[in-house]
Amino acid sequence: MAKRYAIVLAAGQGTRMKSKLYKVLHPVLGRPMVQHVIDEVKGSQLDEIVTVVGHGAEQVKERIGKKSKFVLQEKQLGTGHACMQAEDLLRGKEGTTIVVCGDTPLITKETYQALFEYHEKEQAKATILTAKAPNPFSYGRVVRDEQGEVKRIVEHKDASDEELLIDEINTGTYCFDNQALFEALKKVTNENTQGEYYLPDVIEILQGSSEKVAAFIAPDFDETLGINDRVALSTAEKVMKRRINERHMRNGVSIIDPDHTYIEPDVVIEQDVTVYPGTIISGQSVIKENAQIGPHSEIKNCYIGKETVIKQSVARDSKIGNRVAVGPYAHIRPEAAISDDAKIGNFVELKKSQIGEKSKVPHLSYIGDADIGSNVNVGCGTITVNYDGKDKYLTTIEDDAFIGCNSNLVAPVTIGKGSFVAAGSTITKDVPKDSLSIARERQTNKDGYAKRLRKN
Ligand code: UD1
Ligand code: CA
Repeated sequence: MAKRYAIVLAAGQGTRMKSKLYKVLHPVLGRPMVQHVIDEVKGSQLDEIVTVVGHGAEQVKERIGKKSKFVLQEKQLGTGHACMQAEDLLRGKEGTTIVVCGDTPLITKETYQALFEYHEKEQAKATILTAKAPNPFSYGRVVRDEQGEVKRIVEHKDASDEELLIDEINTGTYCFDNQALFEALKKVTNENTQGEYYLPDVIEILQGSSEKVAAFIAPDFDETLGINDRVALSTAEKVMKRRINERHMRNGVSIIDPDHTYIEPDVVIEQDVTVYPGTIISGQSVIKENAQIGPHSEIKNCYIGKETVIKQSVARDSKIGNRVAVGPYAHIRPEAAISDDAKIGNFVELKKSQIGEKSKVPHLSYIGDADIGSNVNVGCGTITVNYDGKDKYLTTIEDDAFIGCNSNLVAPVTIGKGSFVAAGSTITKDVPKDSLSIARERQTNKDGYAKRLRKN
């Protein structure tokens, strides 16, 4: 097979975003746009990827990492000039080069692949990925002659009134014969409204030297959306969200209200999971069979076991076992590990703690830096006092222990297996196994005292 290369244009500032963050790093469902572009285009078995960076070069490089080589475009003199920066790495090589913009995150691998195949089948020197836009405003327009052959691309700002009526747009994605691309780029000038070296001018140059120029019309305009401002960014978010949600639903996940459910691309969800409205599942989360998530929950980088139910809660960087009940209104902070059949109830905050099988923390507790065994009951309002203002200490509660309501367990401390802590205790010393510990003032009742007070 002929060699395939990619040039990713990602040097622009993205002035229209009005942001300190470089445009191509703006996330669409948690992943920077340029990363979406590279992940999808990689699906076409590329021999080499070259990303052109400029504004925010270091940050962009860091995000993309080893997936690409990089060249620096010091001044952003236009998309044609940006492509030229890849010359040293690619010039002279035989094969097809796809040029993609870092701001078109919705184009799918299927479309990239179809473009390559069409280009190779047509044996064209250039093939433009075009689309029929319901509102072509601001895009470059594809000008065809009477025979329907592509003649050139005209930018919105340079277009005549007649050309502005054309609804076929340049998506900013093209396949080129690699050598022909670099030959033609030499002839591009900056004589236009914006004073920029336009990559699309290559089309007219190739066409003028009687090389074959083709166009492949993308089946779905939505895919080709170019993100220049935050309005388009929100549209992209919507399209991406719908696409991901539909994939999960077709795999057997029930999403009650897909318009109000946000699932990031890497999340894995098994069959017969139900996701309720207002839920965000992000990062590298995995949700196992028959779990129920939401409504109004945020899950980030969590493993959630089978049949676990999470309501109105926030959980991150934690592992939650099978048949666990979480919430409503629980906060599971990083490094919590909750075993099967446990319960974490209302207004419970958990951090860096192990909760053993069948253990319960049902109401109003803070459990941090704790190692809790199985079958433990942690009464309402219990607090692990883990921090002395300087260091953090571990609380250990062994199997079958019962912690009465409103207890303070001042760490480091161990509550032995099967012991019982009386309600309202402040425990500062280890409790041996199978014992009862009471650490509070004894109650005294004064007969008739209240009545006497009232009389006075
Ligand atoms: C470009 C196309 C337009 C097309 C549209 C599709 C040109 C001249 N116009 O317009 O025909 O309809 O995309 O979305 O190509 N970039 C650089 N260096 C530069 C300039 C841009 O790397 O000097 C990068 C940007 O970071 C961006 C991409 O190229 O990722 C496209 O640039 P942008 O300014 O967004 O071009 P558009 O005006 O959208
Ligand atoms: Ca653009």
